[in-house]
Amino acid sequence: MSNKLLINEVGPRDGLQNQPILVSAEDKLKLIRLLQKAGLKSLEVGSFVSTKAVPQMATTEEVLKSLGPSTRGLSVLIPNMRGFERAKEAGASEVSVVLSATETMNVKNINMSLDKTVEVCEEAVRAAKASGIRAKAYVAVAFECPFEGPTSRDVLYRLTQHMFDAGADEVVIADTIGAAAPMQVREVMTDLVASHGADLISGHFHDTRGMALANCFASIEAGIRRFDSSIGGMGGCPFTPNAAGNLATEDLALMASQSGFDTGIHFPELIKAIDFASLVTQRELGGRSAQWLKRRYQVKAAA
Ligand code: COA
Ligand code: ZN
Repeated sequence: MSNKLLINEVGPRDGLQNQPILVSAEDKLKLIRLLQKAGLKSLEVGSFVSTKAVPQMATTEEVLKSLGPSTRGLSVLIPNMRGFERAKEAGASEVSVVLSATETMNVKNINMSLDKTVEVCEEAVRAAKASGIRAKAYVAVAFECPFEGPTSRDVLYRLTQHMFDAGADEVVIADTIGAAAPMQVREVMTDLVASHGADLISGHFHDTRGMALANCFASIEAGIRRFDSSIGGMGGCPFTPNAAGNLATEDLALMASQSGFDTGIHFPELIKAIDFASLVTQRELGGRSAQWLKRRYQVKAAA
């Protein structure tokens, strides 16, 4: 099996959407470039959602257009066909649809029933593929919903199948509130790998209870080699109560590299990106390993 492990950096979207501070397009671009310099080739750079719902993402058009002409490896989240049209117009080469595994979460997040969400996501995935745009589908609250409790595995598997049937290139299993535990994750990922193959499935774990890294490792044991994470552990979701940040990119990259995987990450450059993210969000950021990495590589603050 390949020793490559792909990290999809979601700080510029999942991370920044939950910050009380509005980061300018210019600073987002600087952060994205620092992340690319640190070796991250796959990044979620924003979302095309309602500006009223998520004001932090109002600059996504400007960010994506400034990153062009090649947007390879850069994805944007879209909640509906309007989002798809905006993404296409801005030159996106990859879009992510998001469907939650419970009724309540879909309503809270995008104001649609589960059936309607599936319909809209299928339409957006088909439209993306017809336009030569890579399509990813997130299944949110894949393990537990903050409103409805534990998620039905049958529903999770059914939604995953629907998205592949519609033509999705990848399905991301998202523990949106950080409620999953490693044995459960290993079982679910093993089932999904058996049904769809390891290359098409990835994991997105929030670190609310300190289990995100263990959940990634459980997924690795099931064969998964693609994960989302967020620089400095930024993140959360404005529509899910008590969801903490994503797994920190530095923690995932360190665990992966010390376990013999090639992530392509250059740690001294990654530290500069953490420091810059702290500066623009005006928050102390950093996963468990950030201070250790700073001592190890003795990098001064980028600012
Ligand atoms: N991009 C920008 N604006 C959009 C949009 C999109 N993709 N889709 C809808 N809108 C606008 C509408 O034009 C309307 O604007 P107006 O109030 O100025 O007329 C407003 O948003 C509401 O649109 P409506 O179709 O009535 O939808 P809604 O109120 O049911 O909201 C969503 C649906 C999906 C637009 C909204 O819930 C949303 O953006 N959610 C974001 C979810 C998110 O980012 N979650 C975190 C990531 S998982
Ligand atoms: Zn998330």
